[in-house]
Amino acid sequence: MDAAALHARDRALAAFERRWDAPGTLVASAPGRVNLIGEHVDYNDGIVLPIALEERCWFVAGARTSASATPGATPGMAPGIEVLAVDLGEHAEIASGASPETPWARLLDEVRIGVCEHLGVSLGGWHVAFSSDVPRGGGLSSSAAVEVAWATLILGLLEIEHGPAFDASIDPMRVAMLCRDAEHRAMGVPCGVMDQAVSVLGTRGHALRLDCRSLEWSHVPAPERLGGEVLLIDSGVRHSLASSAYAERRATCEAAAAALGVASLRDSDTERVESTPGLTEPQRACARHATSEIQRTIEAADALASGDLEAFGARMNASHDSLRDDYRVSCAEVDEIVDAARRIPEVLGARMTGGGFGGYVVALCRSADRERFIAAARDALGPDTRLSIARAGEGRRWESNSSTGS
Ligand code: GLA
Repeated sequence: MDAAALHARDRALAAFERRWDAPGTLVASAPGRVNLIGEHVDYNDGIVLPIALEERCWFVAGARTSASATPGATPGMAPGIEVLAVDLGEHAEIASGASPETPWARLLDEVRIGVCEHLGVSLGGWHVAFSSDVPRGGGLSSSAAVEVAWATLILGLLEIEHGPAFDASIDPMRVAMLCRDAEHRAMGVPCGVMDQAVSVLGTRGHALRLDCRSLEWSHVPAPERLGGEVLLIDSGVRHSLASSAYAERRATCEAAAAALGVASLRDSDTERVESTPGLTEPQRACARHATSEIQRTIEAADALASGDLEAFGARMNASHDSLRDDYRVSCAEVDEIVDAARRIPEVLGARMTGGGFGGYVVALCRSADRERFIAAARDALGPDTRLSIARAGEGRRWESNSSTGS
């Protein structure tokens, strides 16, 4: 996406200093993601293939007492954490004993509870500000970016608070799972672990191949390393239906697995799905999507590993068709963009990405064809079409704020 738009870090630092009259001392960040393929299969024990985006959510923290003004001073232990959501212009108190009222503050509090309970410690006495460059509500995992950046900041703060002898290291996948669980509790959406996993484990220039059953993962070259280009087209549609439909689809998959006599749809295949009696039509259609998508994603990851962009693009097309016809999580506006993109000769594949019901379309072309593709897409979809290039970025990280001199 547009490099000029990447300023959430500065927004968070500036807002922190304005509000508390002192610079924040610790900075942590984590990215959003775009899933290349492997949609709605993480909660079916399947394989997913997302990339971390360059767009990130940034958190800044400083101790809550006047000691925070002194670089390197031991932070004070004033109870509670005051958080400023810079982009929303809202602030909230968390870790105060009461459950916060706003959804974003509840989410932060649940992440804090999960991480602290896991380590058997408590956290208190901090000022925190955060801001994000990840577009909200478009299926690019803006909430996973918030959760993972915050969890990363917490681990840094715990080290400061409890001293160097305290071991705040948690296995990366465990961090992702703690964040996912916090999202379940705070938002009531029974999401899988894909978004948080890539926000933790993403690596520049690579996609994450994650087996959501064994939790084994590896990095495979992203299309940009193979002479390809991943483009995002924003449909502009944000459907509120997404979370209830998400839970419904997940329940249908679980019912289908039970009817097939397996623990999860990972243990079945399209042939058995077609030939086993006793599934309702929606169960059969959902199971057909999940089993075929798992197989496609394995093939797509192999295609990337062997540098075959055409084979990858073909899997992307089949993925979209399956999500549209069998899983029924696309929508007319997204289908229209996918169809228009596929009519452009330079396009190797195009599909919806994320939970569905709007959001972004992801398309693949060769780097050499990028400008032709962009021009043709604007021709087909209108000059104001929001188009951006997605490059695979880094997972979470934290740093000291060098402007404080600490
Ligand atoms: C959302 C969820 C993920 C995943 C995708 C669909 O982004 O958070 O866990 O299920 O939808 O692939």
